[in-house]
Amino acid sequence: MSDEMQIESIYQVKKILLDSHYQVRPIDQKVPKLLQGLLIGELFAKLVRMNEGEYHRLLKRHMTLTLMAFSQEYMAKITKEVITTTDVRLDSPEALTKAIATWPILVVAKLIGIKVVDPELFLTQITLFSAAIVQPHDQKVVLLGNDALIALYEMLLPAKGPLKQTFMDVCAESSLIDESTVNDNLLGLFFQTLDGTSGLIAAMLKHLLSESSLSSKALLNWSLQHHAPIKNTKRFRGKEMLILPLQFKENALPFGSGRHECPGQFWAKTIAITIVEYLRALPIEKCWLLKSRYKTSPNAQVLEFYS
Ligand code: HEM
Repeated sequence: MSDEMQIESIYQVKKILLDSHYQVRPIDQKVPKLLQGLLIGELFAKLVRMNEGEYHRLLKRHMTLTLMAFSQEYMAKITKEVITTTDVRLDSPEALTKAIATWPILVVAKLIGIKVVDPELFLTQITLFSAAIVQPHDQKVVLLGNDALIALYEMLLPAKGPLKQTFMDVCAESSLIDESTVNDNLLGLFFQTLDGTSGLIAAMLKHLLSESSLSSKALLNWSLQHHAPIKNTKRFRGKEMLILPLQFKENALPFGSGRHECPGQFWAKTIAITIVEYLRALPIEKCWLLKSRYKTSPNAQVLEFYS
């Protein structure tokens, strides 16, 4: 990390995120070395999150239009359907933690049209795949993530859900975006959803312990400003790397800013509120929320409840 620049405020972070000289990848290494030659490396190279320039602008526009095609009411309805039709246990703090991580990715899977037979296995596969994207310098993590990706691809190819269909239709107008780019970026949505959304839900539940009368919307706003699920992001200028905090004492940029700002923020908010509302209506034991610790992660702050 550069020790020349001290990052002291959210305004400084925002300024860097808005500056086109700072890029999401080092200029000479678009794909991390250990991923090169693997399926996961091919996917990495095409992800909207990892690109800049014209390719990024076009893909981001298509991705944003696609996500916006699904209304808040529809997203809430699908989330409720997922919660009530999935066989997920809710009998301990550990089970609650697993449910919070599983439901959001099942919402994305349902909209893509992926038929998930075993939610627990699916969560493991998404976790391994995401870990390889976040920690591409660990060979073991990369190989496990690549195997998981191969299995996920097999499930994705026959899928015909409305999210896949809409993304394909929106991208059809541009020759830059081919079918494999669509597929890679659909799988990328799992990585984008996993820690962010479960981290947000867990922070809302934890805050409920001390503020039990707050509305779910107020819990959401508090959590986003005081417990940003993605605690930092990176930017490169030439070979210089900066780690940019997204959470400061008084304020946060929970969804980033500028050209890479999260296009899925209203999905995340709707899914989180729907899940928290559902859990609040259940006789969940208060003591389940008392003990929590952070999941090991270089860039996310995700609380896990334990007994
Ligand atoms: C509470 C949950 C979420 C949080 C906190 C979150 C946060 C973020 C942040 C901070 C970024 C910007 C990263 C950077 O600039 O380096 C980002 C990018 C992104 N997010 Fe989210 N996200 C969440 C959920 C979602 C969901 C549910 C989706 C879609 C289903 C999504 C899709 C994306 C995509 C595609 C990008 C990359 C955009 C680009 O590079 O232009 N996110 N997210």
